[in-house]
Amino acid sequence: MTPPKPTPRPDKVSLWRYMKLFRKDILSAQPQRLYRAWMAEFRTPFFRSYLINQPELIETVLKKRPDDFPKSDRISEGLRPLLGDSVFLTNGETWKRQRRIIDPAFEGGRLKDTFAAMHAAGQAAVDRLQPQAGSVVECEEITSHIAADVIFRTLFSVPIEHEVAAQVFDKFHSYQREQPILNLAAFVPLPKWLPRLHSRRTRKNANEIRKLIQHLTAERAELIAQGQAPDDLATKIMTTRDPETGHGFDMHEMVDQVAIFFLAGHETSASALAWTLYLMAMYPEWQDRLAEEAAALDTPDFAVMSRLKLSRDVFREALRLYPPVPMMVREATCPERFRDREVLKGAQIVISPWHLHRQERLWDCPDAFDPTRWETENGKTCQRNVYIPFSAGARVCTGAGFAMIEGPLLLSMLLRHYRFELVEGQTPVPVAHLTVRSKDGIWLRVVER
Ligand code: HEM
Repeated sequence: MTPPKPTPRPDKVSLWRYMKLFRKDILSAQPQRLYRAWMAEFRTPFFRSYLINQPELIETVLKKRPDDFPKSDRISEGLRPLLGDSVFLTNGETWKRQRRIIDPAFEGGRLKDTFAAMHAAGQAAVDRLQPQAGSVVECEEITSHIAADVIFRTLFSVPIEHEVAAQVFDKFHSYQREQPILNLAAFVPLPKWLPRLHSRRTRKNANEIRKLIQHLTAERAELIAQGQAPDDLATKIMTTRDPETGHGFDMHEMVDQVAIFFLAGHETSASALAWTLYLMAMYPEWQDRLAEEAAALDTPDFAVMSRLKLSRDVFREALRLYPPVPMMVREATCPERFRDREVLKGAQIVISPWHLHRQERLWDCPDAFDPTRWETENGKTCQRNVYIPFSAGARVCTGAGFAMIEGPLLLSMLLRHYRFELVEGQTPVPVAHLTVRSKDGIWLRVVER
């Protein structure tokens, strides 16, 4: 029994059928051979896209020459109404300036300061689950709630029960249902000049979310001016000046950044944690080991993280099997030659952590759940070269360090109090929405330990 994987499509299908499959789900729309291919080409009448699945090519695009492969505009379109000019979407000098202001807030030393807020969110989750003990629960909903709580507490020092926080959370949910992170435009031949129309609901939702965030941000600016702001991520980012220009974010730009922190910060962690819980239910012997290790949480301070080692290995393995961001797209700004193939200027380059993490020519037992692999030669080599749940290079996820504290900590806190068990007939099917989710939710029985 290996962890659930979507059934791939047949090798040859018409473009029309491919588009239909793609619209349903990008993971099952791909053929089996992509798990072995070093590179694949998608030819369409208007443009070409290439999936790269080889360590050297990944290194070129993400690490060695990121400036030559900026984020593709085609991908940004769906998210632009909500995220504006957030660091997730910008390129070039604007992006570099934004990272100079944001990155210090997420540096190692600062992350230590977020521990108490993360722990409080974990405790609140443990308490919320108590009345449901003994019953079957939908884990994605539960982990979304926890991860959103973590973001509100660490960014703005407010729990999810805060009225504005709760509204933002609800509205994000509806927005997400309408906007896959990877839209069809990355793969299919829509000419660039075709205007992209966002549905009225999408725009209305985006506007409402932005208004709420603006309210939080304006309130914070006032507290900073009065010298009474709490020392959290929002204060840190809003008071940091770009060392090169001396300017910080203006209000509008800060709202863009807050929007991406909410979105990138809670959707991804929620997806990862939900799949980890499912894996724990599949492998109860691992679950018991983690519960035992979690006794270290008797002393809940940052130092405990170094003792939650199994939890970290398990979470890392879950991120390999179910990378929350399954694919990323870049654009070639000059003609290239990849594996003896011509890559034209303007071509879309697809990097798929989903396929790379299960590349049959690189990983030992790629579809198996094995948290001990990180100690093996093969695991170490693959981790260095082709393990990219947070991307890699200059554009690596700002929240990677944050997420690697949050995930293992929350996992350990939940498993310390509860056991999660499989429910017969409820095998989740991974699909790519905004992040990798289960087609019909992840249902498990939760039992008090
Ligand atoms: C398990 C959790 C997470 C995963 C797997 C994840 C994954 C990723 C990936 C793959 C990217 C690159 C996307 C691309 O290049 O197209 C990214 C970017 C980003 N992530 Fe995360 N992320 C996680 C958590 C977080 C958290 C907690 C935050 C903030 C609090 C965050 C903030 C961001 C931001 C701001 C970017 C844009 C960086 C840039 O383009 O320069 N992420 N994330």
